[in-house]
Amino acid sequence: MQDLDALVKDALAAFARISDADELEQTKARYLGKTGLLTEQLKGLGKLPAAEKPVMGARINAAKTLIEQSLTERREAIQNSRLEAQLEEESLDVTLPGRGSGFGGLHPVSRTLERVEQIFHSLGFEVADGPEIETDFYNFTALNQPENHPARSMHDTFYLEGGKHLLRTHTSPIQVRYMESHQPPIRIIAPGRVYRVDSDATHSPMFHQVEGLWIDERISFANLKGIVTEFFKLFFERADLQVRFRPSFFPFTEPSAEIDMSFGEGWLEIGGCGMVHPQVLKNVNIDSEKFQGFAFGMGLDRLTMLRYGVNDLRLFFENDLRFLRQFS
Ligand code: DAH
Repeated sequence: MQDLDALVKDALAAFARISDADELEQTKARYLGKTGLLTEQLKGLGKLPAAEKPVMGARINAAKTLIEQSLTERREAIQNSRLEAQLEEESLDVTLPGRGSGFGGLHPVSRTLERVEQIFHSLGFEVADGPEIETDFYNFTALNQPENHPARSMHDTFYLEGGKHLLRTHTSPIQVRYMESHQPPIRIIAPGRVYRVDSDATHSPMFHQVEGLWIDERISFANLKGIVTEFFKLFFERADLQVRFRPSFFPFTEPSAEIDMSFGEGWLEIGGCGMVHPQVLKNVNIDSEKFQGFAFGMGLDRLTMLRYGVNDLRLFFENDLRFLRQFS
């Protein structure tokens, strides 16, 4: 008869090597099955002398208990490790960066636009809009700039087929459109894209302007200076900012001026302005004896460059995310 201790040792060692549940059950059969090694031992009991039977029976039962215990432990261990493996596999690392689409950000020029609208809103101005494809009439003629007027040469632009329509060269035509459909008092700004045949570090064939217009019964150049100066101080958050009005010429204003602002040691040109020319008021049937007012136009891209310290205008339109991300 095989030594029981050796059999138990054998069984325990066999179970310990196994990490697969099915294999464990098969190995169990080898010891505890109908023809298993331990079962054979039990069967052999019958042949033993009566005196030895109880002792041997008890030893075999003790061996069986040991084997069964070890089997149960091994079963549980295999189940646990399977569960652990499953949990591991299904686990979520919540510290990993998400895969969702990122939040967008506003383009720096859009930020400027929002800021400009906010400031002028606080000064009592409404926002008006107009088409980017304009007629010659609104872009030039109604603004007192008839065909062959020399000032037109500074506004070379893109003409659409047929030559009747063009891409507006400034936001000033919105003044005319607005005055055609509204009576004074008028207090608007009109931002938008404008186009010219121009391209270098500080000029782009497409750029942005904001137009301003205030028409009422007693509006003077002093109001123009006050509003424009206040705007620049608010926009650049500098109470000590200096604004200069330098005599100039625009066909649709009289008198006209360039707006310069203090910048470091010198001055920087930032827009044009003036008192709306009586002829422009007449063109839109506003009584120029009773009403007068001022207008101004400035470059939004220029304002953005100054506010953020960007030295090449083209960066705004290349859509390089490495550049744009810095503003969002
Ligand atoms: N429209 C002019 C330009 O683009 C700028 C300008 C000058 C607008 C004087 C005005 C103004 O409203 O009064 O060059």
